Amino acid sequence: MTSAQNIPQHVAIIMDGNGRWATARGLSRTEGHRKGAEAARHVVTSAGELGIPYLTLFAFSSENWNRPADEVSDLMSLLRYYLKKETAELHKNGARIRVIGDRAALPLDIVKLIENAESLTRDNAKITVVLALNYGGRQDIVFAAKELARQVKAGETDIARIDENSFSRHMMTGDIPDPDLMIRTSGESRISNFLLWQMAYAELYFTDTLWPDFSKKDLERAVAFFAGRERRYGGISAQSHGVQG
Ligand code: FPP
Repeated sequence: MTSAQNIPQHVAIIMDGNGRWATARGLSRTEGHRKGAEAARHVVTSAGELGIPYLTLFAFSSENWNRPADEVSDLMSLLRYYLKKETAELHKNGARIRVIGDRAALPLDIVKLIENAESLTRDNAKITVVLALNYGGRQDIVFAAKELARQVKAGETDIARIDENSFSRHMMTGDIPDPDLMIRTSGESRISNFLLWQMAYAELYFTDTLWPDFSKKDLERAVAFFAGRERRYGGISAQSHGVQG
């Protein structure tokens, strides 16, 4: 049993394995994404029930544009469908919706749906659901560096005042705590350009479960794994004095 103090504050998930789930059933990859989107919807509910205040879902990476055009278009249609269908329900349940990533390359109607979802839900406090869309971790760092460079050039800040805190504030997650637990499904153990800066101290949890099969039980297992870790941030263990953390 995990106590409230062992509940991660921010869980970030790489939802992987939709294609393999579908192929194993003789279905199209799009069917896999459809089922994956349902799993995402359920995991938001489960995270709320477990008292996880921040949940980030990697829904579309900046590398996903390299997929066949019809698969990209199907993913965009799914996104459009869910933004239309779920925003009101999420709002009713106290969820704040945030989107990170470079939205300039997304279809304009989707950008409008995102803006609407963000502004409608901005004051909600039960759970913050962050969707990473056209997101890349290196791109996030480059954007922050560019903005700080611009501020220095404009005389708005000084190089000497740039530190880890100011850098963090300029990341796309500026007002969101760093993830303390990262989950990746489908047996892959890579970070794949997800929240590179933000995951410096995250516990990493990898499971063979394919994303469409990921259930509340799986989320509870990951949270139990997190609760069993001792977090030292480079310090020393409470039990083993003198051992380098
Ligand atoms: C990985 O499966 C999943 C993605 C490409 C993105 C996650 C998408 C969803 C959960 C569907 C909902 C998405 C939106 C945009 C609403 P994969 O295709 O890489 O699986 P594979 O590695 O088995 O081929």
